[in-house]
Amino acid sequence: MGQKRLKKMLVTGAAGGIGRAIRTKLAPLADIVRLSDRAGLGQAAPHEEIVYCELTEKDSVDNMVAGCDGIVHLGGQSVEADWETVRDSNIEGMYNLYEAARKHKVGRIFFASSNHVIGYYPQSQLLDAQTPPRPDGLYGVSKAFGEALASLYHDKFGIETAIVRIGSCFPEPVDHRMLATWLADDDLISLLECMFEASRLGCPVIYGMSDNDVVWWDNSQVAYLGWKPKHSSAIFKEMLDAKIERPHKDAAVSVYQGGVFTEHPIMEKKPN
Ligand SMILES: NC(=O)c1ccc[n+]([C@@H]2O[C@H](COP(=O)([O-])OP(=O)(O)OC[C@H]3O[C@@H](n4cnc5c(N)ncnc54)[C@H](O)[C@@H]3O)[C@@H](O)[C@H]2O)c1
Repeated sequence: MGQKRLKKMLVTGAAGGIGRAIRTKLAPLADIVRLSDRAGLGQAAPHEEIVYCELTEKDSVDNMVAGCDGIVHLGGQSVEADWETVRDSNIEGMYNLYEAARKHKVGRIFFASSNHVIGYYPQSQLLDAQTPPRPDGLYGVSKAFGEALASLYHDKFGIETAIVRIGSCFPEPVDHRMLATWLADDDLISLLECMFEASRLGCPVIYGMSDNDVVWWDNSQVAYLGWKPKHSSAIFKEMLDAKIERPHKDAAVSVYQGGVFTEHPIMEKKPN
């Protein structure tokens, strides 16, 4: 990356799986990286600030966003759950974040959306940025809400968002479905570089996948960002074949892009 584009970059959900994986690689993106979560974040490095924040608390979100010129929004409920849990973190939390971004004039946001927005499409269908949502659960619905909110704040207030439908961002694929959905964390970092450096971002839908051999998604409409993932899940295929049996062709994990998420029931909130 050439010149640092951001002065202070906020990363929400920084204590989560992706946040922990990319934390040490964020330094070149900004002079200061403000890490936030409601869970433990450890000690701040010299270029880091730590701000604890519950996304449902509007004033707290406002303080978290103040002074930042870019946001990587990873925070939120990251798998299927009961409605109250999904609503609090991904709907209330998303609204609070975008309202704070508007008030503090943040120009650019990375929104960690999900493949579960389009989880009910069959794996045989190639999707692109224009493909309408077809969520596979309440979690997917909440991410579709987030995408719509980002679009609203772009049209009304000019806030640019990279809406990234992340596939599976883990150290390596753990099942055959992930041969299509895998996103290496280095490729996520290069996407962050491209979207924060681009002279124009807009509010595009981007599929968060590496340069995998199995392809369900077409990113050609965001070629203008110049993002070129360098990693591929192909190197894990032999290991997966040896370790786990391929699922039956009629199993949800073989049929739907969202895999087993299509099989989750509507969950009830557990009593405290
Ligand atoms: N990991 C993936 O492959 C993947 C795939 C698709 C989408 N995503 C999205 O990317 C983001 C990061 O994923 P992850 O795997 O690191 O998830 P994760 O669950 O490990 O981390 C999410 C973090 O958000 C925090 N959080 C949740 N609700 C909060 C709230 N109300 N207030 C403050 N903090 C809150 C949690 O404490 C947690 O540290 C999530 O938004 C997830 O939906 C991830």
